[in-house]
Amino acid sequence: MIEIKGVYFAYDEDTPVLKNINLNIERGEWVAIIGPNGSGKSTLARQINGLLLPDSGNVCVEGLSVLNSEQLWQIRAKVAFVFQNPDNQLVATSVEDDIAFGPENLGLEPELITERVENALNITGLQQLRNKPPHLLSGGEKQRVAIAGALAMAAEYLIMDEPTSMLDPHLRTQVLGAVRQLHANYNMGIVYVTNILEEAFLADRVVALANGVIVAQGTPERVFADTTLISRLGLELPPVCRISSLLADAGYERLRGIGDLDQLVEVLCKLS
Ligand SMILES: Nc1ncnc2c1ncn2[C@@H]1O[C@H](COP(=O)(O)OP(=O)(O)OP(=O)(O)O)[C@@H](O)[C@H]1O
Ligand SMILES: [Mg+2]
Repeated sequence: MIEIKGVYFAYDEDTPVLKNINLNIERGEWVAIIGPNGSGKSTLARQINGLLLPDSGNVCVEGLSVLNSEQLWQIRAKVAFVFQNPDNQLVATSVEDDIAFGPENLGLEPELITERVENALNITGLQQLRNKPPHLLSGGEKQRVAIAGALAMAAEYLIMDEPTSMLDPHLRTQVLGAVRQLHANYNMGIVYVTNILEEAFLADRVVALANGVIVAQGTPERVFADTTLISRLGLELPPVCRISSLLADAGYERLRGIGDLDQLVEVLCKLS
């Protein structure tokens, strides 16, 4: 479990960016973090693997604390991070070397590394690109290499900070497909920062941040049903949620919170 306990953090002393954040994330859970620009989402994501350390409070992963420098290295082997800009995270001269980089740093046996790299290439659909230099890949392919790297490290948690924001819809679908695989087949805990609420809908739980404070959390259906909150956050509901919410306001209460198009059509057909 990831335990974020009473975390305060400021880049400069006068203006705290995170104020008393308390949040637990289970292994195998998919949590989306949403909130307006500057609300502290990236700062929070970076606390989880100790890229930033809390000024007070603590962050623990499977009982290990980011405040203990020995344990911080163990945490970094358990928690992988995928950044918004795919160009900032690939280090090697070929896709397969890049995926092998993490397990090599962990000092694993070469046979085990090969096995893990093969598996990661398969799961993320990158077999054809294995010898290509990462800088020649598309943005979506680069993000999938980063995700494959997390898988090869056998990370237990994957933190992603707006990993699709620079991608077109087709590549976005590819990246989300890879995340789904890791979540479904490897019981990985996913922390997914996004302002695209369609993507947040895939999560088990949505956590909304504003001004460094958690202002709401719950299932996507429940959080997105609060249209006042969503517009206060300056975010936009997915079209299906907007339709179900307008119909609910017009008296069709059973439609409130539906965000899946097929489900909306099914319930509507039953009503008529
Ligand atoms: N390196 C930094 N030094 C000083 N202030 C920073 C730094 N990074 C972020 N901040 C400030 O901290 C606050 C929270 O920033 P953060 O990047 O966590 O927000 P965010 O919710 O991820 O925003 P966005 O949606 O734009 O990515 C902002 O007011 C920002 O200006
Ligand atoms: Mg950010």
